[in-house]
Amino acid sequence: MAKKKSAETQDDLKLKVAQEASKLVKDEMVIGLGSGSTSNMFIKELGKRVLEEELYIYGVPTSFDAKMLASQCGIPLVSLDQAGQIDLAVDGADEVEEGTLSLIKGGGGCHTMEKVIDYCAKEFVVLVDESKVVPSLGENTPVPLEVLPFAYSTVLNTLLEMNTAPSIRVSGGKMGPVITDNGNMIIDVFTKIDEAAVKEKELNNIVGVVENGIFSKCDKVLVGNSSKKVKVLKK
Ligand code: 5RP
Repeated sequence: MAKKKSAETQDDLKLKVAQEASKLVKDEMVIGLGSGSTSNMFIKELGKRVLEEELYIYGVPTSFDAKMLASQCGIPLVSLDQAGQIDLAVDGADEVEEGTLSLIKGGGGCHTMEKVIDYCAKEFVVLVDESKVVPSLGENTPVPLEVLPFAYSTVLNTLLEMNTAPSIRVSGGKMGPVITDNGNMIIDVFTKIDEAAVKEKELNNIVGVVENGIFSKCDKVLVGNSSKKVKVLKK
């Protein structure tokens, strides 16, 4: 008797989109390398292509972790200023709003460098499993703000005045706040997001906030689901 196929795990779906995204990379491209578990799978898939097909590319990492992994996988790296132009950025997300393709990112605290690299790429492609696609942003996921440590108390006060629910992100196991690759703190905030682009600007206007995790633009989202073919969302 034929064996019943077991249900795919979230990691299986992430791998499916990571493999699909690696096919978008062509010779001589400069690729923005996102952060997080899905981006890590993409980096590994891309590394295989670099070694097996002698694909000639450069990567621009969005975090220290992405940099370490990419170099272990044999992907040649350049800094943003050396790269000049980024052809394609591939990154994960914590939430994708179905109708607008706005995102919440920064679950790993890397959203500032991710935003710089993702926004300046000619094409910005996001990889998620289907559980991350939601009807409206921010109902279940807080927006992370990268904040100068010097200014954390004034930022907290401003967020409380805005009737939001802020909390300083602390590192599991260790004492004290999470510190980003840029030496800053993260404040996570539950806030109503009617229009992503407006909220993105409003949060960045708070003095002491370096960058927030609302991404009001991306070009394409690859969604891993149980069907064989990866679903593509475009505006
Ligand atoms: C890191 C990010 C990640 O891309 C986001 O948190 C998704 O992570 P994962 O692929 O592990 O679910 O923004 O700052």
